Amino acid sequence: MINIGVIGYGYWGPNIVRNFSSLEGAEVRSVCDMNLQSLNRVRKVYPHIQITQNCGDILDAPGIDAVAVITPVSSHYELAKRALLNGKHVFVEKPFTATIAQAEELIEIAARKKLTIMVDHTFIFTGAVRKIKRLIEEKSLGDLYYYDSVRVNLGLFQSDVNVVWDLAPHDFAVMDFLIDEKPAAVAACGKAHVNGLEDTAYITVQFNNNMIAHFNVNWLSPVKVRTTLIGGEKKMLVWNDLEADEKIKIYDKGVEVTNREGVYNLRVSYRSGDMHAPKVDQIEALKHETEYFLECITKGESPENDGHAGLRVVKLLDACNESMKRNGQMVSV
Ligand SMILES: NC(=O)c1ccc[n+]([C@@H]2O[C@H](COP(=O)([O-])OP(=O)(O)OC[C@H]3O[C@@H](n4cnc5c(N)ncnc54)[C@H](O)[C@@H]3O)[C@@H](O)[C@H]2O)c1
Repeated sequence: MINIGVIGYGYWGPNIVRNFSSLEGAEVRSVCDMNLQSLNRVRKVYPHIQITQNCGDILDAPGIDAVAVITPVSSHYELAKRALLNGKHVFVEKPFTATIAQAEELIEIAARKKLTIMVDHTFIFTGAVRKIKRLIEEKSLGDLYYYDSVRVNLGLFQSDVNVVWDLAPHDFAVMDFLIDEKPAAVAACGKAHVNGLEDTAYITVQFNNNMIAHFNVNWLSPVKVRTTLIGGEKKMLVWNDLEADEKIKIYDKGVEVTNREGVYNLRVSYRSGDMHAPKVDQIEALKHETEYFLECITKGESPENDGHAGLRVVKLLDACNESMKRNGQMVSV
């Protein structure tokens, strides 16, 4: 049995407590939140779980094997570091840390103490992303041309990070999981209209091969959009995460060059074949992810979404901030 302490029971924390509580091999022993109202919510649903306002009651407790850090990013490093130094495995929210140096230090401590770090890159555990991964590995799409994502909605404004650090970690984590080639450089433009932090941003990611990626993240959109297009030489797909059933649509569409004799004679033919919507696993991603966390601890294996994956995402986010400061200049990753 792995005894778990959860720190942070705001918007996302209840999902973490619910999922760990439902697993055979885990027991949520304690939940900590600075806010008393949050703790009252825990008490109502889980009267048997200890509650505390003092994170030391979890981080220093000998009976806790693993700590889930579900607080805003500004506190991830301090809480995760203390947990690791006390010999506890760590499940930490995205984005992993607020700086590259913090992520590197946590990775080093975990390696030295042979502990597991898992960064909550929830979307890589969805049926849709697992299916897309298989399609890319099987070369169904052919060589990839582009990755294009829109993640926009109204709010929720965060007080400690801009829209890039809030929403783009999801997309960067998915892209990192799906595409073997790693980004070479980033250009980002963003504007702050409301609270001094960028709430609207456009990000371009360059690769050393012919791939290009673009991300649109926005807290000021009147409608919620969660759509990713992935274009390949053979096929193209659309992943609409807001669709209940047909989350992925694969289009047998493409362009073939039929004559390359000079610019004016260049002829292309357009292929417009069938559309196919494969069935995808609808089980909650966090269920798979929390199960996988226990499995990695038990087997002593490093997760796909380990500290290094978290660090790759933080490097992209850091490059975005640097680029936004320099008015959209390209920044190497
Ligand atoms: N994986 C996902 O899909 C997903 C979704 C939403 C949020 N998140 C991440 O989860 C984290 C929390 O986000 P949220 O929206 O739940 O924030 P939130 O502000 O709603 O909740 C955070 C809670 O942590 C508590 N807290 C903060 N610092 C603390 C400390 N040092 N000790 C004890 N309690 C503390 C606060 O009182 C609050 O109740 C963020 O890193 C966010 O990026 C992930």
